[in-house]
Amino acid sequence: MANDTEHDLETTLTAIEAAPDADALEAIRVAALGKKGWVSALLKTLGQMSPEERQEKGPAIQATRAQIADAIAVRKQALDDAELERRLASETLDLTLPAAEAPQGSVHPVSQVMDELAEIFADLGFAVKTGPEIEDDWHNFTALNMAESHPARAMHDTFYFPDRDAEEQPASSSEAVGKQERMLLRTHTSPVQIRTMKDEGAPLRIIAPGRVYRSDSDATHTPMFHQVEGLVIDKDIHLGHLKWTLETFLKAFFEREDIVLRLRPSYFPFTEPSVEVDVGFAIENTRRVLGGSGDDPGHGWMELLGSGMVNRRVIEFAGLDPDEWQGFAFGVGVDRLAMLKYGMDDLRAFFDGDYRWAAHYGFSPLAQPTLSAGVGERA
Ligand code: PHE
Repeated sequence: MANDTEHDLETTLTAIEAAPDADALEAIRVAALGKKGWVSALLKTLGQMSPEERQEKGPAIQATRAQIADAIAVRKQALDDAELERRLASETLDLTLPAAEAPQGSVHPVSQVMDELAEIFADLGFAVKTGPEIEDDWHNFTALNMAESHPARAMHDTFYFPDRDAEEQPASSSEAVGKQERMLLRTHTSPVQIRTMKDEGAPLRIIAPGRVYRSDSDATHTPMFHQVEGLVIDKDIHLGHLKWTLETFLKAFFEREDIVLRLRPSYFPFTEPSVEVDVGFAIENTRRVLGGSGDDPGHGWMELLGSGMVNRRVIEFAGLDPDEWQGFAFGVGVDRLAMLKYGMDDLRAFFDGDYRWAAHYGFSPLAQPTLSAGVGERA
């Protein structure tokens, strides 16, 4: 019996030392110390022994149990240490490796161009202003010298909101709420002229980039598009200032010295006189490239923006004295500027949200446009 036990103990201790992993170790523990294990069986025999016999054999059996339990604990620690060593060895970090490239979005050409505009005009002393896209009739039309019956309103394909008054009191007259308060999606950025003059008075130099809305849709028109408004209010401002400002802006924006402008008389209710500005271009590889006079051989003129001296009535509507203050304003399509500068030909793609288009035409978020580094550098 004693020999058997010694033999079993030897075997068990050898097996423990050789156990390759925690599972194997556990199997050995169960076979020895588990409920049906051989050491447990020995322990149970103690109960049937005489006190003398128990006194003689008990300590040996207890010692066997303790020896096995100790050996298991030692082996377990060794296995854990080895596992930790293995992980430490396999999970080393090489901090000298270049960082893995993380997926990175790109700046939409419209945002890029707006940043470029802000940079160029900041250099000329213009601040950036914004106004609400949900506008009231008064700011969008009336204060810009477009009275309710004004035919120019028809050209704007306006999205109107349902008449609140008519909805609430269908039986009574909807005339009660002035048409001035009728809400709409602004059709141009010009209402920001009014808001800024009212809020800040004069003198002023601002640009106002933002979304505008007209019910129109084809390859060159989308129901939502972007404009940037420019407004200068001061004393003794004249058309020469307007022309110089536009020329300076367009040369900086298109990064060409040979931008040539042609000013044509035009009509906008909010400017007087009004000037449509054309710019000379040539066709290079089927693309319009701005530069040179439109009268040069192989060149043409392209209509680019609307502008003029701010109408006296607009200055009055905005609460300023038109005998003291005057100025110029202009409005230009931001999407159009982006298409011309970066060679996109379908406006609808701007707003499809196709990742591939954005990846192709987008700009690095780390390359902020600056006048010194170039406002149009593709990173
Ligand atoms: N608001 C005009 C438009 O949307 C553009 C414009 C702005 C013209 C300012 C003159 C002065 O067509």
